[in-house]
Amino acid sequence: MTDSTLNFAGKDYPVRQGSVGPEVVDIRKLYANTGMFTYDPGFTSTASCESGLTYIDGDAGVLLHRGYPIDQLAEQSSFMEVAYLLLNHELPSKAELEKFTYTISRHTMLHEQLATFYRGFRRDAHPMAIMCGVVGALSAFYHDSTDISDPHQRMVASHRLIAKMPTIAAMAYKYSIGQPFLYPDNSLSYTGNFLRMTFGVPAEAYEVDPVIESAMDKIFILHADHEQNASTSTVRLAGSSGANPFACIAAGIACLWGPAHGGANEAALNMLREIGRPERIPEYIARAKDKNDPFRLMGFGHRVYKNFDPRAKVLSKAATEVLDKLGISDPVLDTARELEQIALKDDYFAEKKLYPNVDFYSGVILSAIGFPTTMFTVLFALARTVGWVAQWNEMISDPDQKIGRPRQLYTGPTQRDYVAVDKR
Ligand code: CMC
Repeated sequence: MTDSTLNFAGKDYPVRQGSVGPEVVDIRKLYANTGMFTYDPGFTSTASCESGLTYIDGDAGVLLHRGYPIDQLAEQSSFMEVAYLLLNHELPSKAELEKFTYTISRHTMLHEQLATFYRGFRRDAHPMAIMCGVVGALSAFYHDSTDISDPHQRMVASHRLIAKMPTIAAMAYKYSIGQPFLYPDNSLSYTGNFLRMTFGVPAEAYEVDPVIESAMDKIFILHADHEQNASTSTVRLAGSSGANPFACIAAGIACLWGPAHGGANEAALNMLREIGRPERIPEYIARAKDKNDPFRLMGFGHRVYKNFDPRAKVLSKAATEVLDKLGISDPVLDTARELEQIALKDDYFAEKKLYPNVDFYSGVILSAIGFPTTMFTVLFALARTVGWVAQWNEMISDPDQKIGRPRQLYTGPTQRDYVAVDKR
């Protein structure tokens, strides 16, 4: 909807208002009209697309999926339901949810030859490295769902990716510890099946602990989608060239791995363990504030949230609940709570509006469940696959979709003549 216009250099540019959130100046004709580009490295003021999936108000600490607040979804919904919501616009009826869950369960197995592919990795490979490789390789196995112009094939690829990600993640873990791969058990829930494939062994029956299952499901919900973050934008950019869905999601996984993004959960727990005890916190706070030290408080700060990250609020509460229910007393949780308190009272963090983000408490829960830190970002990728495929589908269905092709402010040499090597 165009409400008004912005006049620049004698030309009007439409100002569009979304259903909620800041207005957006549509500058698509700016270059044609003026020969000028806009300059916004890091996209701090740029809406890269139109989307109806997720809304964030970073000043108010609000996160909505298709209008539903994240805390309500985390407390009352399930990961399968949130996946359905993101892919299909509305919450499912009971029958729709059953059908969707059944459909996903029918895609949980991996092509048998992929097990051989795993064996090509070194045992000490980081599971994110394995995941990037295996997900990219899916396009070599599932040729019947790579035609992106066919909505049915797009949906099959989306279901496959959501369904196979737990199998891929669990196999990456099993490979790293030298245990046999476990086939999926479709009588279990999405999350229960993942836990069994990860922690079960063929020699024994595995009982899914409902406390762990519910905590894991909550973590998946909290990571399902997050608007146009770096990895989602990577998936969209890769997809804009017409690349197949498996290649696009592999690109998203690669981007997520960085410590400024999804890799922060691994880095945050490593940091909390390194701090070790509350007395050492001031030393680390001082390092985080020191301009000459590259150290940052991992799990702190966010590009969009300048108040609090609502996901961190849910996880902070869940961390205590889960540890209590599992009867685990982890000094890392005490260090995390103390660090949060000290940082929030510190002028540096207050002025820069740095608050705990989703990665600050998730590691404490994942560690209590039994995951090594190297698996943390893999779990983030597993859950975020839902958002990636939903955003990718939304983009491909958009009639205004074009290949993503940013321009630049060129500051290199102007044209000059080539000089032969013996004359240089
Ligand atoms: N510790 C210490 N100082 C920080 C931190 C931190 N964690 N985060 C930001 N700052 C400072 C930064 O040095 C800068 O100071 P100055 O203005 O004096 O140069 C200022 O705050 C703004 O930081 P920025 O890097 O310009 O902000 P950004 O929006 O580009 O970066 C961020 C956001 C998340 C990359 C950053 O806060 C960070 O590196 N945090 C630690 C990593 C982390 O926890 N990442 C997970 C993000 S949430 C999960 C996800 O979406 O993947």
